[in-house]
Amino acid sequence: MKDKIIQLREELDRLVAENHEQLEQFRIRFLSKKGVIPGLFSEFRNVAPDQRREIGQALNLLKQKAVEKIAALKDQLDRSSIRDKTETDLSRPAEEISIGSRHPISLVKDRITGIFQNIGFNISDGPEIEDDWHNFSALNFPPDHPARDMQDTFFIEKSEDYQKQVALRTHTSSVQVRVMETTKPPIRTLSPGRVFRNEAISARSHCIFHQVEGLYVDKGVSFADLKQTLFYFAREMFGEETEIRFRPSYFPFTEPSAEMDISCNICNGEGCNVCKYSGWLEIMGCGMVDPAVLKNCGIDPETYSGYAFGMGVERIAMMLYSVRDIRYFFENDQRFLKQFTSAL
Ligand code: DAH
Repeated sequence: MKDKIIQLREELDRLVAENHEQLEQFRIRFLSKKGVIPGLFSEFRNVAPDQRREIGQALNLLKQKAVEKIAALKDQLDRSSIRDKTETDLSRPAEEISIGSRHPISLVKDRITGIFQNIGFNISDGPEIEDDWHNFSALNFPPDHPARDMQDTFFIEKSEDYQKQVALRTHTSSVQVRVMETTKPPIRTLSPGRVFRNEAISARSHCIFHQVEGLYVDKGVSFADLKQTLFYFAREMFGEETEIRFRPSYFPFTEPSAEMDISCNICNGEGCNVCKYSGWLEIMGCGMVDPAVLKNCGIDPETYSGYAFGMGVERIAMMLYSVRDIRYFFENDQRFLKQFTSAL
């Protein structure tokens, strides 16, 4: 009897059931009325009295082990069959796959360039690491201009001779120079890209941001062309009702220079905290390309004239989406990024 119990105990330890039918066979074999364990119980009366205590205990434990083992195997089978069912049920709701969304800066940048591409502008690219000529000198910045200062510019190579200096570009106007140097007019081009300035990071300014620069050079280009093009842009970008105004300004590379404002599309010009109660929002700098700049780039200012403009993408994105802090664009927090779809 003892040997039999040990043998059954070992058999139970090794038991694995592949399906419910097989498990039922095990149950019948071990525990049914005619099963081996009840069989042992009925043989128990033949056990010698001095062994009854020990064998009785072993028998009870064997029965307990069999009950527990069969319950555990059943549980295992139930669980895997639920899994099988759901895995093969093609009608069950799919798990959500995060496909990501376009970054708001890309969306706004593409919207801006798309509007100008519709009227014949192409896209040009330039390096983010730029020499003094393309970022400053060709654009008419005098040698002692404050923008050349360490405070404003991230220099990569400092030199006594400012013309040898290399820096991260402070604006995408540098691409204007590269295009004019290598292309014959007519030129209608846009240069979107990253720019870098040595500024303290705050809700309103960052040391990295994006600009879109525009340039048009041809025979007989006038300030009226600039105004009309930017008027078209403002209405396409901000809505039919948008008005624009120009304020005189100064940039070394344009003459005359202006700052363009659009009527505040939040309060429709009536005054609110976004437009600081002026009814207008500053959108970009612009002007007629200075003849000296044309000349620096090998274009004859007697024959050709041109206009240029430059705008900050973050600024426009902040207005369009009511984003109150520029730092959100650089933190890549999914909770922020997920809110943007391609529809503006
Ligand atoms: N480069 C200027 C800036 O970084 C923006 C700008 C102003 C670009 C006037 C232009 C322009 O092309 O004509 O602030």
